Amino acid sequence: MEKRSQWGTRAGFIFAAVGSAVGLGNIWRFPAVAYENGGGAFFIPYLFALLTAGIPILIMEFSMGHKFRGSAPLTFRRLNKKTEFIGWWAVLVAFVISTYYSVIIAWAISYSIFSFNLNWGSDTEGFLYGEYLHLADVPGQTGSLVPGVFIPLIIVWVVVLGILFKGVKKGIEIANRIFIPALVIIFLIIVIRAVTLPGALEGLNAFFEPDFTRIADPDVWIAAYGQIFFSLSIAFAIMITYSSYLPKKSDITNNAFIVGFGNSAFELLAGIGVFAVLGFMAVSQGVAVDEVVAGGVGLAFVVFPAIINEFPALNELFGFLFFASLVLAGLSSLMSITETYVAGLVDKFKISRTKAVLFGGGLAAVISLLYATQGGLYFLDAADYFINQFGVALLGLVEVVLIAWILRRVKNIQTHANEISDIRLGSWWTISLSIITPIVMGYMMFGLFKQNIL
Ligand code: PFF
Ligand code: NA
Repeated sequence: MEKRSQWGTRAGFIFAAVGSAVGLGNIWRFPAVAYENGGGAFFIPYLFALLTAGIPILIMEFSMGHKFRGSAPLTFRRLNKKTEFIGWWAVLVAFVISTYYSVIIAWAISYSIFSFNLNWGSDTEGFLYGEYLHLADVPGQTGSLVPGVFIPLIIVWVVVLGILFKGVKKGIEIANRIFIPALVIIFLIIVIRAVTLPGALEGLNAFFEPDFTRIADPDVWIAAYGQIFFSLSIAFAIMITYSSYLPKKSDITNNAFIVGFGNSAFELLAGIGVFAVLGFMAVSQGVAVDEVVAGGVGLAFVVFPAIINEFPALNELFGFLFFASLVLAGLSSLMSITETYVAGLVDKFKISRTKAVLFGGGLAAVISLLYATQGGLYFLDAADYFINQFGVALLGLVEVVLIAWILRRVKNIQTHANEISDIRLGSWWTISLSIITPIVMGYMMFGLFKQNIL
């Protein structure tokens, strides 16, 4: 059997883990979620979730991957013979996410090219759904492939699978060492331009204005936990896989803090940039910021192009930088999620990395074509909704309950992390994992089931 791959340097691992964490979740999800859930007051549940669930679970997953040196299924099997299926469940969730996340990156590639002559025109909504996606041609069903989506989608997969072919050190590590610094620089340029626009202050006021009454609302807490889970890439096999490539001597706890705070810093930066731009839009149209707020697909592909049209100068350049940042953030996340099933296949069937990338990644690429059809957006929405509600959060809960209460391995994992890390894990970590997180997440899942099934 081949020797297990390893990261070349500590920074390489951190860049890769940050690359996985920083994605569309930071740029288009966080700003809208924070705004809708209490603005400045949202930071209280958000920080609570980061410190009692996000970073503790990150440390747990790093520690498990490092200790058992396996992809998620192998790690869970080495933990206990009966729990391998949990690893496969996580891998399956990752696989499904990769099939549609790749499509959004493909849109961003197209839009970065459209930026050069503001191709989207003045009706940006009509352009996205009509001219670009051809959604209305076949209402509620799928049609033929849309070339403007299909071609960039092929590019996305060629790039990602090409990087994975090269392996952990020569592929993933090097790519992230280039992508992440580039992303940070581009994003800083965008944010500086954004906060110096007229109206930026109005946007920031709307964003940070705290509504403390919302803190009593359980939904706000659910939103905070959901954001932390998705945003940190925890509970979907990624961080276990990446940490299985760590060298023996690695400071796990420290790395987890760097990745956790790094991701949140990027989120905060995105919130500032997005709301400064929204403030500019609101003021130039003479409406309240509330009327222009959006998140997700609507924010990136409808509202942003409309705002870019209105820019005082260098519209094309700003548009290009914005969509390029989506592409870079997206590719580094897609790499990590694809690696989870590549690693799963290599460990399980003892096949070469090349074969695993070809089969696993190839299958995901073929399935992703479904969303590149006219009407493919319907499938994309359905898949995304299902995964977010029942995939990631439920897995997180199962994982924590399993480790803390069924297998009772908290002490064991703590000792392992403490042996190799500078920061020593004490009762903050054990209490967060075995009591706070299961209670809050159990409550959260109960609410979700009640809403959707009962
Ligand atoms: N942490 C990522 C984000 O915030 O966007 C979540 C993610 C999504 C990771 C899709 C990887 C991925 F392929
Ligand atoms: Na993130």
